[in-house]
Amino acid sequence: MKQFRETIAVTGGAGFIGSHLVKRLVKNYPDKLIVNIDALTYAGNLENLKEIESMPNYVFEKADICDPEAIREIFARHRPDGVIHLAAESHVDRSIADPLAFVRTNVIGTINLLQAARELWESMPERYEGKKFHHVSTDEVYGALEPGDGLLFEETTRYQPHSPYSASKASSDHFVRAWHDTYGMPTLVTNCSNNYGPNQFPEKLIPLFINNIRNRRPLPVYGKGENIRDWLYVEDHASALDKVYHEGAPGSTYNIGGNNEWRNIDLVKELIRVVDSELGNPEGTSLDLITYVTDRKGHDLRYAIDASKIERELGWTPATDFPEGLRKTVRWYLDNSEWLENVTSGAYADYYERMYRNR
Ligand code: NAD
Ligand code: DAU
Repeated sequence: MKQFRETIAVTGGAGFIGSHLVKRLVKNYPDKLIVNIDALTYAGNLENLKEIESMPNYVFEKADICDPEAIREIFARHRPDGVIHLAAESHVDRSIADPLAFVRTNVIGTINLLQAARELWESMPERYEGKKFHHVSTDEVYGALEPGDGLLFEETTRYQPHSPYSASKASSDHFVRAWHDTYGMPTLVTNCSNNYGPNQFPEKLIPLFINNIRNRRPLPVYGKGENIRDWLYVEDHASALDKVYHEGAPGSTYNIGGNNEWRNIDLVKELIRVVDSELGNPEGTSLDLITYVTDRKGHDLRYAIDASKIERELGWTPATDFPEGLRKTVRWYLDNSEWLENVTSGAYADYYERMYRNR
């Protein structure tokens, strides 16, 4: 008799969003085995999973999704009923510096997983019955909107990626849909806006700036700070992924967003206000750290998600309001300086020094 009712393989479960999702699934579904497959790149950190690592329904497998043999072997051993695929190179600036790494992980890695899942599921008597491949993607595949044009990205918005990162994610989305259309694999694609929250690697805007404020370092605002992003608390993304994986219609796409647009410069000032208040500094203390620097190449002006489909069809809406989420996030980074030290030392230190420390 099977010990667990279902086995779900989560890729990238040691990263920022993946670790929140893994914790949620392990805790909420004791009758499902969660197999976390992660290569532990600079962005993967098993410390993120401490609270669930000894739970009986959790297993960690260190593997590179670009290694077909390793993935095939893990799939043969665990025989997952579903895959939730988050493993990726996720940082736009890195994709501008080293695009091929993004093609390798985000495109080739995704195809390897699709092939391994197809091989396993087509060898089973029930084939694709009860199986699911959920690909976690980004709103950046839709390109950019104009500030004030009132438009939002919908599931039917045409793809127009600009950065090597978004081009690689767009490509992987197309491959996932191709496996649905060609082989009949039950696939799901979700496209989400910018996440923030605990455990995000301090190369992304919010954790980088919290860390820099804490250390009285410059805050490098790209261009004039007029770019707009739609921010969602990471646990809300995890709850949306849980919902879509369990209740989404196979073959469908769902947009996920926070309905929470901020101009970068306004967000940075709000962040400074919250960090200064949590540090007990007089209001405005850290405003002098704002430093305008050369803009990101091909910097998309505005992202904004229409998340009405997931609300209408699956009843999902974000639970965390932005002031609450931002304060919790700031508090977490201030209380977990050891985590920050750990992830910014070692292999990452050189890159961190070059990119951020002296700006
Ligand atoms: P992250 O960079 O924090 O984590 C990525 C994880 O993938 C790490 O644990 C890393 O070790 C692992 N990984 C990388 N390459 C791998 C490989 N070759 N084999 C196995 N594991 C590998 O990323 P994140 O911000 O948590 O994003 C997770 C997913 O969500 C990505 O697919 C990303 O495109 C998507 N996404 C992110 C955001 C966001 O705001 N961060 C928003 C929308 C969608
Ligand atoms: O929209 C979803 C995407 O959000 C995800 O798919 C990506 O994985 C994730 O990294 C994020 O991409 P962004 O490029 O929007 O996030 P980032 O935190 O790098 O930047 C947010 C905004 O802040 C963006 O307009 C660039 C700007 N920025 C960023 C950094 C790191 C700065 O002005 N200065 C900085 O130092």
